Amino acid sequence: MWPLATAVDPAGRLRVGSLDLARLAERHGTPLYAYDAATIRAAYRDYVRAYRPFRPVRISYALKSCPLLGVAGLLAGEGADASAASLGEVLAARRSGYDPTRIQLHGNAKTEEELAGALRAKVGRIVIDGAEEIAALGRLMRRRRATQAVWLRVSPGIAADTHPHLRTGALDSKFGAPLATGDALAQARAIAATPGLRLVGIHAHIGTELHEAERYRELAGMLAGFARSLRETLGVRITEIGAGGGLKIPLRAGDHVLGLCAYASALGSALRGADAGKTTLYLEPGRSLVGRAGVALYRVVGTKRVAGVRTFVSVDGGMGDNIRPALYGAEYTAVLAERAAAPPEEEVAIAGRYCESGDLLIRSVALPTPRAGEVLAVPGAGAYAVAMASNYNHFPRPAVVLLDRGRARLIRKREKHADIWRLERR
Ligand SMILES: Cc1ncc(COP(=O)(O)O)c(C=O)c1O
Repeated sequence: MWPLATAVDPAGRLRVGSLDLARLAERHGTPLYAYDAATIRAAYRDYVRAYRPFRPVRISYALKSCPLLGVAGLLAGEGADASAASLGEVLAARRSGYDPTRIQLHGNAKTEEELAGALRAKVGRIVIDGAEEIAALGRLMRRRRATQAVWLRVSPGIAADTHPHLRTGALDSKFGAPLATGDALAQARAIAATPGLRLVGIHAHIGTELHEAERYRELAGMLAGFARSLRETLGVRITEIGAGGGLKIPLRAGDHVLGLCAYASALGSALRGADAGKTTLYLEPGRSLVGRAGVALYRVVGTKRVAGVRTFVSVDGGMGDNIRPALYGAEYTAVLAERAAAPPEEEVAIAGRYCESGDLLIRSVALPTPRAGEVLAVPGAGAYAVAMASNYNHFPRPAVVLLDRGRARLIRKREKHADIWRLERR
C-alpha cells in the first residue's frame, strides 16, 4: 500500500526513504500529496518484466489517473507511451516529454475542435469511439495530405466484476461500438472506406479494479476473433490491439487484488495464441503505476464523539482532493505520521471538510486517538485523487511534491483563493 521505501523510524515517525512525511507537511502545508518517484519507476518496470514473454507489448500510461507533468514525465523517461482521455491530456503528455507519435487519444464525445487539436498535436493514434467521429475525422483529413492511423474502440459485452461505475465493457455502456450488435463491424467498414483514415488497431477496456483474470482472457479472445473477422471480411489487417488498463491496487491491509503475472498471462497468452506475435499488445495502466506511489497528508482539525454511534475525526481535506470514497465507495486506511508505531486505541471515521454528509474519507480506521494538529497519512492515494480534484466550497486544491533521491521537489504549487476566481468577472 505504501511507497517502496516507507518505514517507521525509531521515534515512531513515518518516512519514505530519508524523508519525514510530517516534516514535509509542515514545510509545504496540508493537504499535501507526496509521490515517490522510485515506486513509480519500479511499477513500470514490473509491467515490462511481467509482459516480456508476450512481446511485442507497449505500456501506455493512462494520464487520467494522474496527469501532473512531474509524474507523467517520469514515465515518459522510462519509455512509456501515453494514453490520453482528452485533448488536454494529449497536451499534458506532450509537455511532460512524450513523443506525439506514442500518444493515443480516447474519448466517447470528441468534438471536431478536439480532433483538429489532436491532429495539430500529431498524436500517433486516435481511438474512434462513435459513428459521427468517423465522418468528422474524415472531413478534417480531407484538408490534409497525410493519413491518420486510428483504432476502433469496441464494446465486447463483458460485465466485469467491479463497481458499476467502474464497468466499461458491458453491452449497456456509453463506450465502444458493440461487437454483438454488428455496430463494431459496421464502423470498421466505414473507417476503411474513409479516405485519410488507416484502421490499424482495435481497442476495448472492460473496467477497472477487476478481480478475475478470466475476464481478461475472454477479452483477449474476443479482440483476437474480431481482428480475424476484419481480415476475412474487409481485408483489413489489424496490427495493434489495445486491451485497456484496470489492475486494482490494495488500499487496506487484506485487500485482495489480481496479481500482475496472472493478469499478464491471461491477456498475453490468449493474444499470442491467436496471432503468434504479429500484433502489438497495448496496455493502458493508470492506478497500478502511480496509485501506490502517492500518499495524502492531512492535518487533524477536530473530533466529534457521538456516544455509542461513531467518532468523527475531521481533517483539512476530503472530497475536493479525493472524491473516490464518495463517488464509488473506495476504502482507504490511514496512520498518524508522527505516531506510526503507536497501538490503536479506537475506531474512528475520517471526515472531510466539505459541506456534504457523504464527505467521509474513511468510514472506519483503528488509530491511536488523534489529536488536533497531528498529521494523518493516507496511502494508495496516487491515482484518481489529485486528478479529480475540484474547488468545491472554494477550497484551493492541494500542493504536490515528488520525492526523488532523498529530495522533495514541489511539482504543483498549492492553489490560492485568487486562483479560483481568476477567470471570473462580477
Ligand atoms: C480507456 C481506459 N484506459 C485505461 C484506463 C486506466 O485504468 P486504470 O487506472 O484502472 O489502470 C481507463 C480507466 O478508466 C480507461 O477508461
